[in-house]
Amino acid sequence: MNIILLGPPGAGKGTQAKGLQLRHGIAQISTGDMLRAEVAAGTEIGLRAKGIMDAGGLVPDAVIVAMLEHRIQAPDCSQGFILDGFPRTVPQAEALDEMLEAGGSAIDAVIELRVNDAVLIERIAGRFSCANCGASYNDAFHLPKAADTCDVCGAHAFIRRPDDKREVVSARLAAYNHQTAPLLPYYAGRNRLHVVDGLADIGDVAATIEATLQTLPLRTPTHALTQT
Ligand code: AP5
Ligand code: MG
Ligand code: ZN
Repeated sequence: MNIILLGPPGAGKGTQAKGLQLRHGIAQISTGDMLRAEVAAGTEIGLRAKGIMDAGGLVPDAVIVAMLEHRIQAPDCSQGFILDGFPRTVPQAEALDEMLEAGGSAIDAVIELRVNDAVLIERIAGRFSCANCGASYNDAFHLPKAADTCDVCGAHAFIRRPDDKREVVSARLAAYNHQTAPLLPYYAGRNRLHVVDGLADIGDVAATIEATLQTLPLRTPTHALTQT
């Protein structure tokens, strides 16, 4: 099963993608996480991407498409994947369709997590994560149980993303509205789009996504059709 989670910054794509990965055993692919790993490793891609990400813009399509094409060929994607933060432009969506079609595959569902800007800003401005294990917390709704101690691994160091500053969040929202929102009609026109209320509790959002996935028709792989 190949799923796209679509929504503005802070909509809950990463949160829901992790849940889907656990429940369905398919790979979570976050292009944002991949880019942050490139930045941390100081690679050529990382050096190109850092300034763009810190300013809230989008990394060029060619860079992202090449990175994604390589990633979906990894063995952990053989049963499918959840795309979290890709595609973000119509050319990225077209490139994805072409690469999946070439492999006899397709996107099964695009889940739009619908939220409003005021909530997004509160979620993002409050977000921080464990520097050791990556567990996610929030100043407003989800503090560690013991002050300054990660619930999951017990570490005491936390980090905030450089692009989570309020002024950068506005630029990220603008990039979503101008460059990514055109994907909604793109996928609606292909009968792939399902809208989910992203303002509900995390567990309720997950339950609605599961109910949506239950309604999908079973897709027959192309290779099965061509076998005699
Ligand atoms: P990326 O890392 O993808 O960031 P983003 O899209 O801005 O989204 P976020 O990760 O901020 O939010 P999220 O939707 O994952 O929400 P989360 O689950 O964390 O991209 C970063 C940058 O990389 C981009 O700006 C761009 O420069 C570049 N990039 C990446 N992909 C690219 C591409 N394809 N093309 C070009 N450039 C690309 O939740 C947020 C917070 O809210 C958390 O604290 C969470 O605990 C909380 N929360 C989540 N759900 C709920 C809920 N239902 N109720 C209450 N709280 C909730
Ligand atoms: Mg994310
Ligand atoms: Zn931790």
